[in-house]
Amino acid sequence: MTNYNLSGKVALVTGGSRGIGRSIVLHLAHSGADVAFTYRSRVEEANALVAELQAIGRKAAAFQSNAADTTQSNDVVQNVIKDFGRLDILVNNAGITKDGLLMRMSEQDWDDVITTNLKSVFNFTKAACRQMMSQQSGKIVNISSVVGVVGNAGQSNYVASKAGVIGFTKSIAKELASRNVQVNAIAPGFIETDMTEKLNEKQKEGILTIIPQKRIAKPEEIASVVCFLASSDSNYITGQTINVDGGMAM
Ligand code: NAI
Repeated sequence: MTNYNLSGKVALVTGGSRGIGRSIVLHLAHSGADVAFTYRSRVEEANALVAELQAIGRKAAAFQSNAADTTQSNDVVQNVIKDFGRLDILVNNAGITKDGLLMRMSEQDWDDVITTNLKSVFNFTKAACRQMMSQQSGKIVNISSVVGVVGNAGQSNYVASKAGVIGFTKSIAKELASRNVQVNAIAPGFIETDMTEKLNEKQKEGILTIIPQKRIAKPEEIASVVCFLASSDSNYITGQTINVDGGMAM
């Protein structure tokens, strides 16, 4: 699937049972990593994915947990370190949308999106970084969004969370640089998943007009960049946000 060698590495992906997260899990495993992932609700899909990873010879585990919950997130990280023996790669992928114009946005929708998309990144990064610092190596990849770079009407909660992820990435990259832990973000454009499936045909047509490459991407096109940022090929890159968006933001 990719040319990156992640043999012997242990990876943890949040929100790994479907969409972009699932593709990231598979790409990391096919690159040689043992992979643990979290998911919110789809037990059968999560178990099937664990079986798929084991079938290619990888150690794998799925944890049902809410990434917005600090205690649950800590527990996941500690269990991964205990079961897998180390932690080399963290991919903060879990995310939701609750769109609406600010005038109609409820406090609950604001809080849900900020805690799921941004506090979750704090939760997992804080829990994982101690282990990475003591290993003197690690890779953290945060999934932001193109709208976190350019803004989007009707998504102020989501955009604030994703712009927050970019700022957090830069700050933690500076904090962990001397410990040989690289921290980067990816800002995907429009990717074919359940998240974008919610859009109607008119919205999808509108989106195509603002993508220079004139197509929506597949989850694999994000996963391959994650593998690059998780590999030693990117050791001199930290604090960056890579736009993978067909040219939307440039
Ligand atoms: P999706 O809706 O298909 O999958 C979201 C994943 O997050 C699922 O695995 C779900 O279980 C997990 N999740 C949601 N809330 C959670 C919680 N509280 N705790 C643990 N896991 C939770 O979405 P998709 O499209 O795969 O998105 C993945 C990431 O990529 C998200 O952060 C999203 O914001 C981002 N993204 C997606 C784009 C797209 O066009 N699909 C564009 C830009 C960014």
